[in-house]
Formats: sequence, C-alpha cells, structure tokens
Amino acid sequence: MGEPECHSICALIEKLARERVLAKEEYVRLISECSEDMVHKVSAKAKKVAEASFGNKILLRGLLEISNHCRNGCRYCGLRCSNAGVERYRMSREQILERCRYAYRIGLRTFVLQGGEDAVQTDSWIASVVKTLKDEMPDAAVTLSVGERSAEGYRMMREAGADRYLLRHEAADAALYGRIHPVGMSHTHRIECLYELKRLGFQTGTGFMVGVPFQTAENIADDLLFIHRFQPDMIGVGPFIAARGTPFENESNGSLELTLLLIGILRLMFPKAHIPSTTALATLSPEGRLRGILAGANVVMPNISPVEVRGKYSIYDGKAAFGAECGEGISVLKKQLASIGYSVDE
Ligand code: 5AD
Repeated sequence: MGEPECHSICALIEKLARERVLAKEEYVRLISECSEDMVHKVSAKAKKVAEASFGNKILLRGLLEISNHCRNGCRYCGLRCSNAGVERYRMSREQILERCRYAYRIGLRTFVLQGGEDAVQTDSWIASVVKTLKDEMPDAAVTLSVGERSAEGYRMMREAGADRYLLRHEAADAALYGRIHPVGMSHTHRIECLYELKRLGFQTGTGFMVGVPFQTAENIADDLLFIHRFQPDMIGVGPFIAARGTPFENESNGSLELTLLLIGILRLMFPKAHIPSTTALATLSPEGRLRGILAGANVVMPNISPVEVRGKYSIYDGKAAFGAECGEGISVLKKQLASIGYSVDE
C-alpha cells in the first residue's frame, strides 16, 4: 500500500475497530482493495480483540455429518440432490450416539450434528436424538445444522434440548441468492428461519461463502450489514470451493486472503461472537486453519464422523477431514495451535 492509500484505508480500519460497523461503501472499499498488507493490518487488530474476549484459547466443536441426503439443489453444493456422483448415507441413532460418546471421551463438549435436508431424518427424529444425547451427557451442548425446517420442527428440537443452530444465510442480496440456489428455494424463507431460531432461544449462527460465483464486493458488504442487523452468536465464513457434479464445478475457488480479511472484519464487528476457522479454509491452504485463528477466529470444528462416511460428505472437492482436521488428530491440532501460541479450551 502506498502512503496516501494506506492513510485512508488505515483510517477505515481504525473506524471499524472503534465503531464496530461501517457504511456499505466503506465495506466495499475494504473488500475490493483487499491486499496482503491490509489482511495483516486487520488480522493484527482482530487477533487482539479475540484475545481480549477469549484469551489464547480455542474452542473445539465436534462436527458429525449425520446424512448426505438432501432434497435441495443448491448450485454450489456437492450434495445437491441431482448429483448422481455422490454415494449417499445416513447415520442411525445408534451410530450418532456412538460417535458423540467417542467425542465426549476425547474431551469435546459440543457436538454439531450437520446434515443435508434429509426427509427421512425428520424433525421429530432429530429432536428425539437430541433428547437422548442431552439426557446421557447433560454437560455437553448440542448444535444442529440441518437446514430449513418448519417453525414447529425447530420448536421441537429446541424443547428436546438443542442449544444452538447454524444456518448460513448464504447471501443477503436476494438476487445473488436466487442465482446460486434452485428455483423454489426462497431467500425470504431462509431469513425467516433465522429469526425464528433466534426467537426460540437458540444461540444462532449464520454466515456465507467467500467467492461464490456471481458474488460482488457489494454483495459481501450487504452480507456484513445483514450480519450486523441480525447480531448472531456464531458466524461462519469460508471460501467457496468448486464441487464436482455441480453447475459451478469449473468455477474458481474463493480467495484465501479475502476470507481472512472478512474473518478479521467480522471479529472487529463482533468481539464476542464465535467465529470458526472453517474446514473450507483448511482445505484451500495447508496453513488455512492457523491463519484463520491469527485473523481472529476462536473456534475449530474437528470432524468426528465415522471414517467410512468422511469421504462421502463432499460438499466440495478435496474436503479436509483427516489429520489435524478430525477427532483422532486432536493431538496434532494441539501441537499446531501451540506453535502459534494458542491452546485448546478444556
Ligand atoms: N464450497 C464451500 N462451502 C460450501 N458450502 C456448501 N457448498 C460449498 C462449497 N462448494 C457451505 C455452505 C453451507 C455450509 C454447510 O457449507 O455455506 O451452508
């Protein structure tokens, strides 16, 4: 960055750190002028803000991929219903319990049950699995990430004891939402789901992909402003990664630097939100996971799915699910965290 340029960009970063929100044009400017230098500046500030909230501790959440069946046809997602190249599976209640018990034994105290919108894993079935988990391991939190469901379904899940829910809004701009989703999926409904989840008392998470086809800097600015209005407890942002068998299979992946910039911006906007350094970031680059933390993320979600299904939950190509990315690799993860001065919150 040259001197005068830095002057105004640096002033914007200062303003963001101070006021926790910017005007749309100011976000657009940061996003469209994203440079390595800017990422370093924002990351350094964001890391301090994260440390003021969480110390040098990283929270772990065990990610269990309970089904890859999905009735939807999201154009970016490898699990879209029309993708015949996917070998489908769904976990049974017993398998889910077994994997959560395993996660509990290795010290995890949050289980994230994530799956496609599988009509067989009904709302009441999910609620009953949640109830069993909470009865058996009352000191563990259960997070659900099973897509758009009815208000009644969400209520059942909440009453069964589910604590948190992740539902990325994917795109705040309705036109972009329409371009990356099939006809029949409604932007309005997705946003309504998010407000319903919040109303029911779930700790709610939202977010979006960075670099999804057609996305502009204006679109991302709108995402940031939506997140500001919604005030979620958790925020997931990761790079788009092309998935085979989808209409976007030949598109380029999202940018690592821009994803890191956005993690930093979101940390400055939300000092206390839980922001994961996502698997997509780890997939995009070997240092992605650690760089996400150095940019202000405070959560890592090790994969606790049964080894046989890990390759099948292919929302995008080459998804990292072994080594430091999974339950069995927690000691590797801990070493990596230690190398950058962090430890796991136990
Ligand atoms: N690349 C990156 N992230 C993806 N997701 C779905 N498909 C992809 C992809 N191709 C994200 C969506 C979804 C979350 C579970 O995974 O944002 O909400």
